[in-house]
Order: sequence, then structure tokens, then C-alpha cells
Amino acid sequence: MSLIEIKDLKVHYPIRSGFWNRVTDSVKAVDGITFNIEAGETYGLVGESGSGKSTTGKSVVGLEKVTSGSILYQGKDITQRRNRQLLDYNRDVQMIFQDSLSSLNPRKRIEDIIAEPLRNFEHLTKDQEKLRVLQLLDIVGLDADALYKYPHQFSGGQRQRIGVARAVATNPKLIIADEPVSALDLSVQAQVLNFMKKIQRDFGISYLFISHDLGVVRHMCTNIAIMNRGRLVEVGTRDDIYNHPLHIYTKRLLAAIPDVNVSERAAHRAMRQKVEQIYQSNRHDYYDDTGEAYPLVQVSPTHSVALPPELAHQLLAQESEAQD
Ligand SMILES: Nc1ncnc2c1ncn2[C@@H]1O[C@H](COP(=O)(O)OP(=O)(O)O)[C@@H](O)[C@H]1O
Ligand SMILES: [Mg+2]
Repeated sequence: MSLIEIKDLKVHYPIRSGFWNRVTDSVKAVDGITFNIEAGETYGLVGESGSGKSTTGKSVVGLEKVTSGSILYQGKDITQRRNRQLLDYNRDVQMIFQDSLSSLNPRKRIEDIIAEPLRNFEHLTKDQEKLRVLQLLDIVGLDADALYKYPHQFSGGQRQRIGVARAVATNPKLIIADEPVSALDLSVQAQVLNFMKKIQRDFGISYLFISHDLGVVRHMCTNIAIMNRGRLVEVGTRDDIYNHPLHIYTKRLLAAIPDVNVSERAAHRAMRQKVEQIYQSNRHDYYDDTGEAYPLVQVSPTHSVALPPELAHQLLAQESEAQD
């Protein structure tokens, strides 16, 4: 059994307008997505800004009211509050955010910020609590003198470590990491990703790793889902997505990864132009008449793409020819 099974999840926000403030339309932030997260893995959820990633993440932690579909944890649907309470779900599933300055209470000292989940879920004495907070600081590589400081006294990377310490305090099974390094400098990004990986190994945590940048998740994720306007347009292993992408949207995201390698810049630019050209001239092949993504079709045991079946298999054949 997977750790989490998300089935046909939809989150639609009502749009009200007019004199009577009636519901006239809805934003389909998440529009029928299905995927599973296995124990101990990092699952990547990647798409442009506005594609519904954060709404998905918030639904999985139980912070968002879902319109339909289910999220199963230990066989129970946690979109129902009663099941979340029954399963200790709010302790087993934690979230870290992109903006650590606004997600950490500026008026609280680090000791109290990290101890908060412990106070909610564990019954520790003052001494036990202090010991545990010190351990947590140590795990994320911060000194004991951090205890009495406030969030603004730390750098962005250090604050992200504090957010992680708070998230792991209750020994969670799953952490939803919503763009955890997007606000950080490139050099600091690598440090934070590395200690997130170390914590994963040491504690057997799963991540749902959300990012707009396929470059960032490359070395983190075992499986990846590509999200485009509330739908999944491609799902596969890391190898499927990076080495055999089929949907034009995935190819555009790959082309958008900033290149660090100066010597390959010209080739990269040419590739980006080619993808953009295909997108401009053939985009109608990739979306239906209403502009929505097609349902996913499976092209291998691990790889699915949102295309008409004939086109999916045709592209797959071209892809493997090009590889030979
Ligand atoms: N509370 C809300 N009310 C109305 N629309 C929302 C709300 N939250 C998000 N949206 C809309 O839902 C869509 C998906 O948003 P979001 O999940 O934040 O995307 P992402 O995290 O991929 O950038 C966007 O069009 C956004 O404007
Ligand atoms: Mg977001």
C-alpha cells in the first residue's frame, strides 16, 4: 500500500460577482489529479506558477477544503476531518513553505517556534522539551545559541533550516515541501537540499516536493508529476521525465532550466528555440478543442502522458528512434 493515494482530486474556488454576489463561475485550481506517494520517496510536483501545486499540497495536509475526490492515508480518506483526528494525521504530515520569514512567527523565539508542534502533540517535561529542541537544532546544523533568537536574526537558508526542524519535530511520515528553496541563492539551495536529503535518510521521511523548476527537483525526486492548469500532463520516473519527455509542456519546462554550463549555452539556446517553435505551431495537438489537457494514457509501466493515444505512441516511437 502506498503511503498516500490521491484519487481524482478536485479543488474549485467559487467566483462571485454581480449585485447579489452570486457564484457565477469557478477557478478549477485542481481539476482531477491522481497519484501515489510511496513510503520513503521524494515525489516531485512541478509546473508553472498558478498550475495548482500549492492548492494540491494544502489539500494533502488538510488545510484546503476539497471539492471532490479522495486522499487516502492508511486506507482512510483524510479529506474528512474526523479521519484526520482518528489517525493522528496532523502529526504525521507536516508542511514547509517557500517564504520562511512569513511562515515563522516573528515575535516568537526559535525555541518556542520549534517546540510548538511538540507542545501540541507530545507531553514532555520542560527539560525533555529543551533537550529535544536542541537535538532538532543539531539535526539541521544550527548551534544552541539559536534558541533565544528571533527569525529575523537569521539568513534565508538558516530560516529554512528552522522550518525543517519544526516540521520534523513530531517524527512525521510525510513532509510537503512547497518551493522550499525557491527564495534562496543557488549556493544556499544546494545546502538546504542536501540536508533535506540527509534528514530523509536518517528518519525515513517521504517528501512531496513542489517546485516550478525542473532543475531543482532533478537530484531529489524518484517520481515526478508535471502539472499544468490543474491537471497532470505527464507522470513518470526521473528517467522518463528528463530523458524521454513526451508532452510539449514538459519539454518547455526542461528547456527553461537555467544552464550553469557556459560551454553548452549555444546548444541550449537552439534547443529552447526548437521547443518553442513546436509549441507555437503544434500546440493544438497537445490540448483538446477547449484548450484543456487530455486524460493521461499509459505508455510504459511507469510513464503516462496526457495526449490522444495515437499521438502518445507516435511520439514515443520517435523518441526511442532518436535514442538509437
Ligand atoms: N483561495 C483562493 N481563491 C481563489 N482562487 C485561488 C485561491 N488560491 C489559489 N487560487 C487560484 O488557483 C490557481 C492555482 O493556484 P496555486 O495552487 O497557488 O498554484 P501554484 O502553487 O502552482 O502557483 C491560481 O489560478 C490561483 O489564482
Ligand atoms: Mg505555489
